[in-house]
Amino acid sequence: MSHPEIESVLHEDRVFEPPTEFASKARIKSLDEYNQLYEKAKANPEQFWAELAESELHWFKKWDTVLDWQPPFAKWFVGGKINISYNCLDRHLSTERRDKTALIWEGEPGDSCTFTYAELHAEVCQFANALKQLGVGKGDVVGIYMPMIPEAAIALLACARIGAPHTVVFGGFSAEALRDRLVDGKAKAVITADGGFRKDKAVPLKVAVDKALENDGAPTVEKVLVVQRTKEAVTMVPDRDYWWHELQPTLSTECEAEQMDSEDMLFILYTSGSTGKPKGVVHTTGGYNLYTHMTTQWIFDIQDDDVYWCGADVGWITGHSYIVYGPLSNGATVLMYEGAPRPSKPDCFWELIAKYKVSIFYTAPTAIRAFIKMGDHLPQKHDLSSLRLLGTVGEPINPEAWMWYHRVIGNEKCPIVDTWWQTETGGVMITALPGAIATKPGSATKPFPGILADIVDHDGNPVGENEGGFLVIRYPWPSMMRTVYGDPNRFRRTYWEHIPPKDGEYVYFAGDGARRDEDGYFWVMGRVDDVINVSGHRLGSMEIESALVSHPAVAEAAVVGRPDDLKGEDIFAFITLEGEYEASDELKVELKKHVTGEIGAIARPGDIRFSDALPKTRSGKIMRRLLRSLAAGQEVSGDTSTLEDRSVLDKLREGA
Ligand code: PRX
Repeated sequence: MSHPEIESVLHEDRVFEPPTEFASKARIKSLDEYNQLYEKAKANPEQFWAELAESELHWFKKWDTVLDWQPPFAKWFVGGKINISYNCLDRHLSTERRDKTALIWEGEPGDSCTFTYAELHAEVCQFANALKQLGVGKGDVVGIYMPMIPEAAIALLACARIGAPHTVVFGGFSAEALRDRLVDGKAKAVITADGGFRKDKAVPLKVAVDKALENDGAPTVEKVLVVQRTKEAVTMVPDRDYWWHELQPTLSTECEAEQMDSEDMLFILYTSGSTGKPKGVVHTTGGYNLYTHMTTQWIFDIQDDDVYWCGADVGWITGHSYIVYGPLSNGATVLMYEGAPRPSKPDCFWELIAKYKVSIFYTAPTAIRAFIKMGDHLPQKHDLSSLRLLGTVGEPINPEAWMWYHRVIGNEKCPIVDTWWQTETGGVMITALPGAIATKPGSATKPFPGILADIVDHDGNPVGENEGGFLVIRYPWPSMMRTVYGDPNRFRRTYWEHIPPKDGEYVYFAGDGARRDEDGYFWVMGRVDDVINVSGHRLGSMEIESALVSHPAVAEAAVVGRPDDLKGEDIFAFITLEGEYEASDELKVELKKHVTGEIGAIARPGDIRFSDALPKTRSGKIMRRLLRSLAAGQEVSGDTSTLEDRSVLDKLREGA
């Protein structure tokens, strides 16, 4: 195994059974029931998914073929006609859910609003009509660069309604990163806001859009729809930029949902890989709708009186699948929050849970670790008794953080679902079903029904119990990514040929290391490639290296992850300078700023070390394994015999 860290076996034998009371009312009530579902799905996945697609979703026209699998390209519900915005909105309107709260929104300064399903439907229709008026139609890609305001969710649903694939770019990304994505996605329009509120400040967004579009930076973009949030001054370009609040009163609250092919593209979402620029992960309509619907229902055990809160940003896949599409497709009440804990309001999360009687709360380990640091007294000041289920996502959760979550937030009565998945998988793949599967702190537990997860070695051979290996999926599932936008070969190479196909069987390589214990529980250890997971945000080391070397002072850069108590991993950059530049603290500051400008603050290196040379093999490959050890302050272990110049290591150590 190339990464010794995935072999480290965590010893953890605490087990938490689903609380009896919870299980008795849960969607999936027992291990037996889970096992039966799992076996049924395994025996005939197509039939399993088809039955659910039929009973759980609205189709304008039923499909002809459930699955067309030409490895590694899958099509689900071929010939079916569907619209995910219809499934999230219209079909609830003829039921008692019509006047149920769909969305509760809380702004950072404390302003708030709610939408019933009928009201949300009307807003989405108006928004869709605005897009149409700006010339956006079926098949046109729309960039979305928004703060966490209701219009972010409305924009997604409006695009889906008219069949315009969206590509959401996280509001924390820079103008440069936004431009790259708009260009790659060939976006025709951009939806943005003047700004949003973050840490008690108004943070601009429209200026970044202006910058991305200046000098014809993204030539396919014709129109920009701007939502007013902060009321800070912005420049509006005539015939390009339009205020949403000026258009809205003129627009009809009806807009028929387009009948989309099941396999029509629903969205592109860019994510980092170990090589090259970020990839546009393509998701399509029918399979994604079904899988996010079922996972939301069974994993979050959505009941009609739940108030569900997922703390992610709409800019990430978690926001797409588990703030917008999955919960609304189930007719849930969703809380959306613009802000984050900050010195002036360290307990804002707990305050919100008490204020809105949140019953299901889904967040990331990095947030949990930050809460632990802030102290138990903060959550203890608030009434959290409405909570009945907790979830975590984004990175492995350390058992101590899990236990704190269980004890202090869950009052030892809420099951915890640790959900393993990825942008590429569209929905959760490995997780407990809270009424059925006993949990172990740090384990994502078992695969969702229909997901054939396994752990294999380099050649694709299954490894033994408790042995480390690569996490793979053996069979297509409805919400799997369909391709890398514009680059099907990269899709094939990266995900399906990394483990060589055997006898025509292709397996999906997730890029994570894992082991399976004696009870069949999965323990995900983290990435085995050069992807760094900073506070649950996924960044490619090559991307950050490219950003660094685009600065005139930098000759060469190598970026690795370093373990961090709070963020999980932090970014550590080793740099050699061009001849005329001298190492200095000022230059470190400047380089960090440069990366922020090129990618965004989430990619800013936590530490930079200057050096005369980087450790390389004789063939010129940077030995990141050594750099990882150095960054972590560990002894460099393992084989260093391929190192070209051994004195480089000593110098790097001295530079510490
Ligand atoms: O390494 C795994 C980690 O996050 C990666 C996927 O990142 P992204 O596409 O940004 O999606 C994050 C939200 C779904 C995975 O390859 N990861 C995600 N969830 C977990 C996790 N690692 C361990 N346990 C998890 N529950």
